[in-house]
Amino acid sequence: METDTTSELVSNVYLKLKENIVKYRNIVGRPLTLTEKILSGHFNNIDETVYSGGKDYVFLKPDRVALQDVTGQMVMLQFMQAGLKQTSLPTTVHCDHLIRAEVQGDIDMKVSLDENSEVFKFLQSACAKYGCGFWKPGAGIIHQVVLENYAFPGGLMIGTDSHTPNAGGLGMIAIGVGGLDAAETMAGMPWELLYPKRIGVKLTGELNGWTAPKDIILKVADELTVSGGTNAIVEYFGPGTKSISCTGKATITNMGAEIGATCSLFPYDERMETYLKYTNRENIAELANQNKESLVADSEVENNPEKFFDRVIEINLSTLEPHIVGPHTPDLARTISELSDDVVSKDYVDPISVALMGSCTNSSYEDMSRAASIAEQAKAKGIKAKIPLLVTPGSEQIRGTIERDGQMDSLKDIGATVLANACGPCIGQWNRPELENDQQNTIVTTFNRNFPGRNDGRRNTLNFIGSPEMIIALALGGKLSFNPLKDDLIASDGTKFKLEPPKPAPEVPEEGFMRPDGIFVAPPSNSDDVEVIIDPNSKRLQRLEPFPKWDGKDFEDIPIMVKAKGKCTTDHISPAGAWLSLRGHLNNLSDNMLLGAVNAFNDKVGEGKNILNNNIESFSSIARQYKENQMRWVIIGDKNYGEGSSREHAAMTPRFLGCAAVITKSLARIHETNLKKQGILALTFSNPDDYEKILEDDKISLLDLKNIQPDKQVKCVISHSDGIKDEIMLNHSYNQAQIEWFKAGSALNVLRNR
Ligand code: F3S
Repeated sequence: METDTTSELVSNVYLKLKENIVKYRNIVGRPLTLTEKILSGHFNNIDETVYSGGKDYVFLKPDRVALQDVTGQMVMLQFMQAGLKQTSLPTTVHCDHLIRAEVQGDIDMKVSLDENSEVFKFLQSACAKYGCGFWKPGAGIIHQVVLENYAFPGGLMIGTDSHTPNAGGLGMIAIGVGGLDAAETMAGMPWELLYPKRIGVKLTGELNGWTAPKDIILKVADELTVSGGTNAIVEYFGPGTKSISCTGKATITNMGAEIGATCSLFPYDERMETYLKYTNRENIAELANQNKESLVADSEVENNPEKFFDRVIEINLSTLEPHIVGPHTPDLARTISELSDDVVSKDYVDPISVALMGSCTNSSYEDMSRAASIAEQAKAKGIKAKIPLLVTPGSEQIRGTIERDGQMDSLKDIGATVLANACGPCIGQWNRPELENDQQNTIVTTFNRNFPGRNDGRRNTLNFIGSPEMIIALALGGKLSFNPLKDDLIASDGTKFKLEPPKPAPEVPEEGFMRPDGIFVAPPSNSDDVEVIIDPNSKRLQRLEPFPKWDGKDFEDIPIMVKAKGKCTTDHISPAGAWLSLRGHLNNLSDNMLLGAVNAFNDKVGEGKNILNNNIESFSSIARQYKENQMRWVIIGDKNYGEGSSREHAAMTPRFLGCAAVITKSLARIHETNLKKQGILALTFSNPDDYEKILEDDKISLLDLKNIQPDKQVKCVISHSDGIKDEIMLNHSYNQAQIEWFKAGSALNVLRNR
C-alpha cells in the first residue's frame, strides 16, 4: 500500500470531484459551496439524494487515514480483530502524544523512547504488517507532519485525533474520528458521516499589526461558543482569506475543533500553492491549479452567502484585535485591551507562571518567525522573558529549519527552552514539580485546548490561549494584565520601551525547508513474515476481546453510575496525562473511567454511591463490582456531553465496565458516534428539563428496545426510591445500520460477522 500522496492518487480524486460536482449540482439544482463540492466528490454512491445537513447520514470514501500513537494503538488492535491482511487506503501512524516535556527536547525524547518502547515497537510492527507508514518519535506532531506531506486541496481524510481538521488549511476536508471509524475505513468500508450543516465565515480586510490568524479563530469561538459548530463544516470565504498564509489557515481550521465543528475549510489559493511548492509537492500544486474550479465554491456562493449557508458570520480582519481566551474554556474570549480589567474583576492570578509556544496549532515557520521578531526586540534591549518559556516545534522539518535560520536562537536568547517535536505539555505530558499541591496559577499558551487539567493535570492551573507573538510578549511582561499594545517594558539600561508589532514574516523559508532523514519507515512490500509484537504479559497492551452482543432484553431498573454536572468532556470521562500510557490496555485503562466527572449528587469529582454497599467510591471501582454482579448501569449527562477529543476510550471504558446507555441533555458529535459504535445506547432527553428528575437512588428502565427504530423515541421509566415513577421519552439519532451495531454489541462485531 502506498503511503505518499502521489500525483496519481490526487489526479484520480480530481477526476471524481469534477464528475460528481456536476452531478450533485444538477441534483440540488443550485450552485455548490466548497464543502458540498468536496463531499460530493467523495460520495460512496451518487444517487438522487439531496442531503439535509444535521439530519441525513452519508457514506463517503476518504483518501487517507492518519493515526497518532495513543489512539492509534486501539485502531490497530481493532483492525487486527477484523482479520484483514492490509489497510485498503494510505494510512500513517505518528508518534507524538507519548513524548514527555520535562527538561528539554533531547533528554525528554530519550526518556520517552525508553518508557514507551514496547508501544512504539507494537505500532511499528503493526504498520509493517498492515501496510501503513510509520513516523518515528521525534518526526513531529501528526497534524504538522500531515500538512507537510499528505494534505492536499479537495481531499478527504479522517484521523483519530480531534485536531485532524488542521489539514483544512490546505483545502482538505479532514475530520477527527473515533478509532473504530478508522479501522473500518482501513478495512475498505465506506465511512459514514452525519451530513454536516454549513456555517460560512466571510473574511474581509487584511490582517495587520499584532493581529494573527489565531485571533480569527478565537473570535469565531467567541461568536459560536464551544458547541456552536456541532455537526457543521465551517467554510471560510471572502477576500480576507488571501491575506492568511496556508499555515495560518491551518491554525484556524485546527482550532475549529474547539467549537465542535465537524471540520473547517479554506478555498484553494496562491498561498496554498506556495506551501505545496515549498514542501516538495510542485506536482500537486500543478494539479490543483488545473482543477481550481473544483477547489473553490461556485462564485454565486460568495455573492449571496445567506442563501447557501445555515449561518454566516462576517469578520473584518483590518479591525480585528488580538484576543486572549480562557481560562478553562476556549470560548471565554476578550480582546487584549480588555484582559487587564478581567484580571481584576474575575480575580485571575496575574503573575504568569509559564508561557508555552508551539504545538500542532502554532508552530509554523511564520509563527516561529513572528515570535522570534518579538524576542529579537527584547534581546536588543537586553531583557529576557520574566518567566519560563517553553517552545514546542511541530515537526523535525520545522525544528531543523528554525535552527538553521536563526529563529530558535532568537527565542533561546530570551530564555526559551526548546522541547521535543511532540505533544508534551499540550496533552498533560508536562511535569511541574515546582507547583505546590494544586496551587492556583496562570499559564499562557498558543495551544488549542484549555480544559482544567489539560496541560499539567492540575485543575487549578488557569490556562489562557493567544497567538505566538502575544504569548512571547506576555512572557516578556510576565503578567496576564500586560498589554503589549500600550504598556512599557523596562530595558536593561532602565529606559522604558514598547514592543513593536512583529515584522511581516515569510510564510515559507527562502532557502526551503530542511528535509530530515531517517524519521519515516515505509512498510515492506511483503509483510507475510512480519509479526505484530505484543508481550502477553504487557501492562500497556492487550489484545481485544469482542464485546458481548445484546441479549435482546430491555434494560430494566438499572442503577445510575453518575449524573454528570456541567462540562463533561472526554478528558473528564477518560483523562489523559499519566493514563496515556495505558491506552492500548483496555482493562488497565478502565481504572480512569469518569475520574474527572463532577457528580451532581454529591459534587465530588470521580466518585459516586455504590448501591451494593452505600459507600462513596471511585466510579471504576463501583463499575467493576457491578460488572462482577452482571449489573448494567447508565450515565446521565448534561449539555454537550463528551465534547473535546475523538478518544474512543471515553466510550470503550464505560462499555467494558458494563455501561448500557448514556442519557444526556445533548451529545458531542464524535463521542455520540463512538458510543454507538461501542454498543452503548446514546440517548438524549426529549425534554432537557427531565435531567432534573433524576435522583441518586433512582433506577432506570429503557423499554421496548427490540422495536428501536430510526426517528422513534425510546421510552424511559425513572423509578424513584419512594416508589413514584416518572415516564419520559428519549431521543436518539440511530439509523438502521447503527441499530445493528447496538444489537451486535459493537460496530466491530458487525464488521467481523461480515
Ligand atoms: Fe498534540 Fe495537542 Fe495537537 S495533543 S495533536 S499538540 S492538540
